[in-house]
Amino acid sequence: MTDSENLGLHARYGGYALVTGAARGIGRAFASHLAADGFDLLLVDCDGEETIALAEELSSAHRIDARSLICDLADPGLEHKAQEWVNGFEIGLLVNNAGISLLDPFFQISLDAHLRTLDVNCRATLVLTYIVGKAMAARGRGGIVIVSSASGLSGSPYFCHYAATKGYGLNLACGLWSELRGSGVDALAVCPGMTDTQPVQDQNLGKDLPFYIPINGPAPVALGALRALGKQPTLIPALGDRVSAGLLSKVLPRRWTLSIMKRSIEKMRGG
Ligand SMILES: NC(=O)c1ccc[n+]([C@@H]2O[C@H](COP(=O)([O-])OP(=O)(O)OC[C@H]3O[C@@H](n4cnc5c(N)ncnc54)[C@H](OP(=O)(O)O)[C@@H]3O)[C@@H](O)[C@H]2O)c1
Repeated sequence: MTDSENLGLHARYGGYALVTGAARGIGRAFASHLAADGFDLLLVDCDGEETIALAEELSSAHRIDARSLICDLADPGLEHKAQEWVNGFEIGLLVNNAGISLLDPFFQISLDAHLRTLDVNCRATLVLTYIVGKAMAARGRGGIVIVSSASGLSGSPYFCHYAATKGYGLNLACGLWSELRGSGVDALAVCPGMTDTQPVQDQNLGKDLPFYIPINGPAPVALGALRALGKQPTLIPALGDRVSAGLLSKVLPRRWTLSIMKRSIEKMRGG
C-alpha cells in the first residue's frame, strides 16, 4: 500500500482538505493520502514545529499548497477561526481527527481534563462540522470524516469519558450521512481499533495484546476511511477489529462485553 493511490476524492469534492490533529499519527496519514490525491491542505494542530515541517514536506513532494494552521482546538474562539478559514478557502473535505484519549479510572482524572477532552473531541468536531459543512452543503459537494473509535460502539472501562465522546462523533456522522444523502455532501465515522500511535505507546497499550485485539498502522486506517467515504456511514478499518466489534457490541450481552474489556485493559496495563 502506498500513499500515492488515486482516490478520486479531490476530483469529487475539490478545493482544500482540512485535517485536524495533522502533525502526528492517524491525522498525518490522512494528510499524506490526501496530498497524494491532489488536495491542497490546511493542517490544523497545536504542535507548531511538526505541522510546519509536514506542510513543507507535502508541498514539495506533491506540488500542492499545504498550510499549517497552528491552534488549540479547545479554544473557545474556535468558531471565529473556523469562519475565517471558510471565508478564506474553499474546503472540500474535512477530517475531524484530533482527539484526546485519557486512560485511567474515571475519578482519578480531573474534571478539567475531562472538560478539555469534551472540548476537543466533541465541541471542536461540532463547530468545524457545522461551519465547514454548511459551506459544503451550500455548494452541493463535500466530504466530512469524523474519527471516532471502536470504544464508542460499546463504552469502555478506564476510557469512560473518552468512549462517550467517541459515541458522540459516531452518531453525529451517522445522522449526517443519512440526512445529507443525495445532496453531494458525504459523511463517514471511522472507528479504528488499537492503532500504533504516540498515545498508545505512552499508555503502554501496544504490548501483550490479547489475540482478539490486533494493532493497526495509521496509514491503512486513514486509507480505509478515505476509500469508504461516500459509500457507507461507518467503517471499522481492520477485519480483526470488525469481528471483535461485532461480537462485543452486537452479539454478547453488554455486561459481558464490559467485563471482557475491563479484564483486557487491566491485563494490558499490568494490573
Ligand atoms: N491510536 C489509537 O489506537 C486510536 C484508536 C481509535 C481512535 N483513535 C482516534 O484517532 C484520532 C487520532 O489519534 P492518534 O492516535 O493519531 O493521536 P496522536 O498521535 O496523539 O495525534 C493527534 C494529534 O492531534 C493533536 N491535538 C490534540 N489535541 C489538540 C488540540 N487541542 N488542538 C490541536 N491539536 C490537537 C495532537 O497534538 P499534541 O500531541 O501536541 O497534543 C497530535 O498531533 C483521535 O481522535 C483518537 O481518539 C485513535
